[in-house]
Amino acid sequence: MKDPIELLKEKGGSSICPIRWQTMTLSLLDQRAIPYEENWLEICSWKAARDAIRAMVVRGAPAIGITAAFGMVLGLKEAIQDKDPGEKGHSILETLRTVAHELKEARPTAVNLAWAVERILNATEGLIGRGIKGKDILYHIEGVAKTIWLEDVRANISMGAYGASLIEHGATILTHCNAGALATGGYGTALGIIRAAHASGKAIKVLCDETRPWLQGTRLTAWELIKESIPCRIICEGAAGLFMRRGEIDCIIVGADRIVSNGDVANKIGTYMLAELAKANSIPFYVAAPWSTIDKTTPSGDFIPIEERPHQEVLKFMGKELAPNGAKARNPVFDITPNELITAIVTEKGILRPPYEQAILSNHYL
Ligand code: MRU
Repeated sequence: MKDPIELLKEKGGSSICPIRWQTMTLSLLDQRAIPYEENWLEICSWKAARDAIRAMVVRGAPAIGITAAFGMVLGLKEAIQDKDPGEKGHSILETLRTVAHELKEARPTAVNLAWAVERILNATEGLIGRGIKGKDILYHIEGVAKTIWLEDVRANISMGAYGASLIEHGATILTHCNAGALATGGYGTALGIIRAAHASGKAIKVLCDETRPWLQGTRLTAWELIKESIPCRIICEGAAGLFMRRGEIDCIIVGADRIVSNGDVANKIGTYMLAELAKANSIPFYVAAPWSTIDKTTPSGDFIPIEERPHQEVLKFMGKELAPNGAKARNPVFDITPNELITAIVTEKGILRPPYEQAILSNHYL
């Protein structure tokens, strides 16, 4: 099987990749410390994978999906080691179902995580059903996890090519949060489009929303763009409206954590405000996401679970208190952008246009 990191170098020209997998060990680039330090954490158990997802060591919908897939491989390894050789496959499956449940709970909004975990679980069930045992199951399932990663990189490169056709030479693009190589198996969704447009010779500029409270825009998106020599400026989120009204933004591109069957999109908190402002200022608003982010089983954004994280994330920064003693906060980390505010959704299979329900359910892309 092709190595995703090699594919990135060949096709994407980018070497940023937040995940490594070697000899049953997952290594994650600790995104909490970027850009100050580049530390790799070794993950050798499914619980460590779950904790890394919860703690934002790894973040971004596709990247947590891939991490969870390898977490399942580690869970399977542990389940096989713990069982007597004589024990039946169904007890391994029971253990793996518990692992799957715990991983899915780690971050509930991004559907890629549940999608990847279910894919591994179904593949394991199939192998056990065919009488395959122990290490042979593990070998096959490790291959499924690597395939999930490779497919994500391929999807990003393809999305980049489709999406770049939407970008004008000389455009200024606003992006929110980090939907780059760090948020995926490599290359990125929204930033993948930006990379592809830049590589094709279009003179683009990027405005990165800082993205409170984790500052994914300031720390991660700017880090990626500077490494690629793509001109960028960081802006406070509250500044986006001013730039839009002044005519200084030509389009907005964001990623997604879940796209449901009517085309409503869950993405980083603040995305909805940008989409409303884009509409008010007649600016195209694009969403980029792989097909693994599409959840056809949920009818509208009203049914997407919104993760609410600890209020300390708002009240403190890098361990320092920002608010007065006794202050409390709310910290929902995603919001829903209604489909009517979205100009187009870029996927690896093509570009979806409204009406999205029809486009998504019938796989109709342009
Ligand atoms: O809380 P995060 O950093 O995991 O949120 C990430 C986002 O909202 C991204 O925009 C989304 O996952 C798409 S990443 C390609």
